[in-house]
Amino acid sequence: MKILVIGSGGREHALAWRIAKSPRVHKVFVAPGNGGTQRAANLENVALSSPQELADFAVREGVALTVVGPEAPLAAGVVDHFRSRGLKIFGPTKAAAQLESSKDYAKAFMVRHHIPTAAYGTFTDPQAAHAYIDEQGAPIVVKADGLAAGKGVVVATSLEEAHAAVDAMLGDGSLGEAGARVVIEECLVGEEASFIVMCDGRHVLALATSQDHKRLQDGDLGPNTGGMGAYSPAPVVTPEIHHRIMREVILPTMQGMSRDGVPYTGFLYAGVMIAPGDDPDRAIKVLEFNCRMGDPETQPIMMRVKSDLVDVLEHAIDGTLDRADIVWDRRTALGVVLASHNYPNTPRTGDLIEGLPADADDCMVFHAGTTMTDGAINTSGGRVLCVTALGDSVRMARERAYDTVEQVRYDGRQYRSDIGWRALKRPPAKK
Ligand code: AMP
Ligand code: GLY
Repeated sequence: MKILVIGSGGREHALAWRIAKSPRVHKVFVAPGNGGTQRAANLENVALSSPQELADFAVREGVALTVVGPEAPLAAGVVDHFRSRGLKIFGPTKAAAQLESSKDYAKAFMVRHHIPTAAYGTFTDPQAAHAYIDEQGAPIVVKADGLAAGKGVVVATSLEEAHAAVDAMLGDGSLGEAGARVVIEECLVGEEASFIVMCDGRHVLALATSQDHKRLQDGDLGPNTGGMGAYSPAPVVTPEIHHRIMREVILPTMQGMSRDGVPYTGFLYAGVMIAPGDDPDRAIKVLEFNCRMGDPETQPIMMRVKSDLVDVLEHAIDGTLDRADIVWDRRTALGVVLASHNYPNTPRTGDLIEGLPADADDCMVFHAGTTMTDGAINTSGGRVLCVTALGDSVRMARERAYDTVEQVRYDGRQYRSDIGWRALKRPPAKK
């Protein structure tokens, strides 16, 4: 079989790496891929991006199935296009992808279907937005409605900060279309977890749980980023919490989408906030939906997959996910993101990367913002690499990952040294 993975990040490197391990697969194309996917012997980069070009390529090469990594091609309708040509693809349609591409759509959907989420208002008029902020008080969260590559959310601790965020989004047009409308919502407290499932329109298969580190600096300080590290499983998601997320969030979302006439297929990522404490009834609220896997959550999750992922993807595309299962490695996987100088603002590119180790099943360096020219790997984006390792405990996975981090060198390298700190404080998780 030939498989096509669309995207160029660490998530896509990890997906392609895992898919290539299937004995049924002899070639995985990655469009457009990165330096890491170019370097791997069994992966091949193809420089394509529009839905039309990608579908033409899939036909020409006899690609058996396509998996979409990032949100942009989904929001551009790549799934609708492939399906209209009878090609197998795993992902949500453009209409279903609005769960991520419009925060306002997602919030209205959750209210309509009684899915727990923070109280909110949606505004296009700056004056009304400012008045709402004054009425609600701080802390408060201001979000651009559209896709803003992780730059569209401001968790404001003061009224001044909240007003400034509204001015920046609605006022100066710096976020373009994405910022023409803002959602302002209640600031939730607790512990975040990433809950990712596969959906075939009717059935759901939950992936292993994970947790991300959104802030740039140790101790969860500094600006929000796309994610500086992740691990799986997430001990905060106990079996009881797992059950509640399925019952209170995932299943009503599936049913609600079907009832609204937009059945959901593809990966669905619910970012949830679990209220502090140990009360089994404590609040679980949805912070966001993503219509894709998380990055960097995918990297540790893929390291723990023991089943043939292609079998599972086929069930997902054929609508028979109820017959699929994934066997998970019982070990913990932990990934540390190495970012470039000046990330997340205007990352510097073109720094030479040295000291990359050989691939191993229990320690992989997944690439994101890298290119390979004449055998040399250089930085080409904000998040550069995600060093991901398996270990018998969080501590051991972390030690293995950081030992490898030390070996990889380039100018301007930035990373957090505390990935996994929440998991270290809790008893080990089961799933
Ligand atoms: P989002 O893109 O909506 O996930 O927001 C990015 C990050 O901002 C989340 O992962 C949270 O850390 C934070 N965040 C978003 N919404 C809220 C909220 N209502 N309360 C507290 N933090 C939030
Ligand atoms: N790591 C968060 C995300 O992928 O949205």
